[in-house]
This record gives sequence, structure tokens and C-alpha cells, in this order.
Amino acid sequence: EAVPLEMHKVRIVQKLNLLPIDQRHKALSVAGNNTFLLQNADVFLDMLTDSGVNAMSDQQLAAMMVADDAYAGSATYTRLDAKLREIFGTDYFLPAHQGRACEHILAKVLVTPGSVVAMNYHFTTTKAHITLQGGVIEELVADVGLEVNSTLPFKGDIDVAKLEAVIKKYGADKIAFVRVESGTNLIGGQPVSLQNMTELRKVCSHYGIPYVLDASLLADNLYFNKTREDSCKNLSIREITRKVADLFDVIYFSARKLGCARGGGICIRDKELYLKMRGLVPLYEGFLTYGGMSVREMEAMVVGLDETMDEDMISQGPLFIAAMVNDLDRRGIPVITPPGGLGCHLDAKRFVDHLPQSQYPAGALAAALYLVSGIRGMERGTLSEQREPDGREVFANMELVRLALPRRVFTLSQVKYAVDRIAWLHENRKLIGGLEFIEEPAILRFFYGLLKPV
Ligand code: F0G
Repeated sequence: EAVPLEMHKVRIVQKLNLLPIDQRHKALSVAGNNTFLLQNADVFLDMLTDSGVNAMSDQQLAAMMVADDAYAGSATYTRLDAKLREIFGTDYFLPAHQGRACEHILAKVLVTPGSVVAMNYHFTTTKAHITLQGGVIEELVADVGLEVNSTLPFKGDIDVAKLEAVIKKYGADKIAFVRVESGTNLIGGQPVSLQNMTELRKVCSHYGIPYVLDASLLADNLYFNKTREDSCKNLSIREITRKVADLFDVIYFSARKLGCARGGGICIRDKELYLKMRGLVPLYEGFLTYGGMSVREMEAMVVGLDETMDEDMISQGPLFIAAMVNDLDRRGIPVITPPGGLGCHLDAKRFVDHLPQSQYPAGALAAALYLVSGIRGMERGTLSEQREPDGREVFANMELVRLALPRRVFTLSQVKYAVDRIAWLHENRKLIGGLEFIEEPAILRFFYGLLKPV
């Protein structure tokens, strides 16, 4: 297997601390066994997320210096608007402070009580905004998407027959929109094929249903289109991007993951829809030419979006993730395969198969991993679900610990350290006990909830 090579060099560094285990133990107790509540100073390798923590390039930092500060009509905004038109070919752009703000605006405009949003798989904030507006979600990822191990290249694909069935069940006029999350976050950063996105376009056009792309994880998805899909092999990343974008009515993204370290935005084709959403931007985000972002972030985003069109740049994440996943897999440690984007995902259902889902196996594994390594991962399982209105637990389809590899941040030796500690923990997995809530917030409970050993 080839060694993944960085096509960049490190020129600014940040010192890391590796606390002794007794101090990690104390930090974990103070954090209520919730890795979201750890202080970063107590963390050695922060693999919580790729959101807002990807490395910035020299060109991005340089661009930040020439940003144009203005409340209204900033030249920086004009450059960002032009870059998005150039890359996606869409007509209108609305800025927002981050991805979930885009979801808020989309849900407010398109979702009504009882309407349905069909999608490959939900993301936590997406689902929360849709259900807050009284909508329901239907998850239509093909069955293989929920299998931990597979050799299929595009486990984020929607089952088109399932979409047809949902449209028949509710009626096309009840479907608020069809949403494709490219680089399906909660099921292991698994990509969506251009072919599937094209088939779904046909269904949406046939029934007149708005077709929406969540492009937050598009960079990884583009890499997989290029390397796993025959029809994309001879296309540049820029050409693939355009082929993807041309299919959708609306494209929104978290720029914390795509192009920058902050911000977000919505790209729209239809003028009427644009005008409806535009009304909400000054209300919730900020004036139309900044939308809650600083001009410096927007300027870095212009450069970052261009860099995303560079195969060397977007391959770094997936190649390092593959190295980590394949090493763990070879050692018999349960991980999601094939390797996807975003990070390496441990399968807690099998890793700690002695713990029932009611004791949050993925949360327990994330806490234990911090204890034995100083590595912070993120629970992506039952803890990240929300309870039914009657208080019943919703058991997640998958119990995952996500070890994100923010782009261009970690070295191969750090990845190897992670593999070594995970392997030790796997050998000693029976030491890991379950968790229960001490304090459980009603909305997005995984962010602030406090837990203790059962
Ligand atoms: N959509 C997807 C697919 C995401 O992964 C995220 C964020 C959002 C929307 C919301 O964007 O954070 O800018 O408001 N994912 C982060 C993560 C939080 O850690 O996976 P945001």
C-alpha cells in the first residue's frame, strides 16, 4: 500500500500537550464523559471534527489581509459572489454565518407542518431545523449505506425506488424538497455518485420537487467521484464540480468544512425562491453582503474554494483516512469500510459489543479513547439522536466514534499513534463500561449533556 504523501509543507505550528493519564481522567470527569465538553488544552490530538479546524494555506492568510471592510457592498463579498457563480454556475448567493444557518433559512422557507424532506441521511442540525418547522424527514439511503462493512464505492447513494415510494405515499406536493448530503456525515462520510445524483434529478424534475445539495463535505465527495467513478476519471475536479452543481436547484454549505474555517452560504437558481430566502438573511444573519461572516473569512473562502478545485489539496484527507482505516481493519478492529471522507469511524456496536445501546456504547468508547490516548473523537450514535416527543429513546442505526482528520493538519506519525492506542484499547475493551445521563438537554443533547458510568 502506497504511503500517503503531503503535497504541502508545514510553516506554522501549534504546540500540543499530552497530559498524564490521571489528569486526563480528571478532565474527563469534569466534562461529564462528554468529549464536546473537554477543554482543548487537555486534548492531545483533536479529532472531534473537521469543522473550522482545517489548515489554512499561505494564500488564504495573504488574502485575508486585503479584505474589504464594509457593512454594505464590500468588494470582498462581490469576489465571493463571483467565485461561487464561477464554480457552481448558480445565479444567486446568500451568505450565512454557518451551515446550520442555511438550514434554518431553507427550512423556514420550504418546510411547512406535515411536509416531508426526503434525503439520503439526516445530519443533526438539518433534522432539528426541519422538525422545528413541523416537517418530517425520510431517510432513503440504499440499505448498504447502513452496513458497516462493504466494498461498494458509493454508500451514500439514495435508493431511487425508495424515493418513488415516498412520493407515492405522501404525494409529490407534500415533499418540501429532496436533499442530497454529499459525503454523508453520520454514516461514515460515505460519498454519493454523480450517477445517483443524476438519476434523482430526473425524479425531482418529473414531480416538480426542489432538489437541494448539502455541499458541506463536497471536497471529499469530489475526490471519490474522480477516483471511484468511471465517468469522472477523465474530468478535472472543476468539471466534476460543475456536473454535480448543474443538477441542483439549491446548493448550501458549511464553509467551516468547505473552502474556509468559518461561514456558509446558499446558492440558488430560482429568483422567486432567492427573494423569499433573502428576506430572512438580514433578520437572522446580518446584512446581505456579509451574512454574519467577517470579510476576512469571506476573502479566505474565495481562495479556499479555488484550492478545493485542486486534486492534490482534496486528496490529502481521504488518503490519510484510508491509511488509518486500512491499518485498523487489517488488525481486525471494527471500522466503517470502505474508507470515506471526514474521518475514520470506529464501529462501537462491535468494538464494545458487551454494552447495550441504552448505555450509549459510542459515547462510552469515545470517553475511553480519550482516557487512554488523549485523542478526542466524537460520538455519532444514539447520544447524537433526539428522543421521541413521548420521551422514548431513538436508537441510532449505527453506533460510531468518529475520528475526524481535519484537512492538512495531522502527520502520518500522529495517525500511527492513534492506531496504536485504538489497538490497545481494543485488546482491553472489556474494561469499558456504559454511560447514563446525569443532565440531559432537550435539544441537541450531545453538545452539553453530562454523563456518568452506569
Ligand atoms: N451539513 C453537514 C453535512 C455537516 O457536516 C454540518 C456540520 C452541517 C451541515 C452544519 O454546518 O456546523 O457550519 O453549522 N458538521 C459539523 C461536524 C458540525 O462536526 O460534522 P455548521
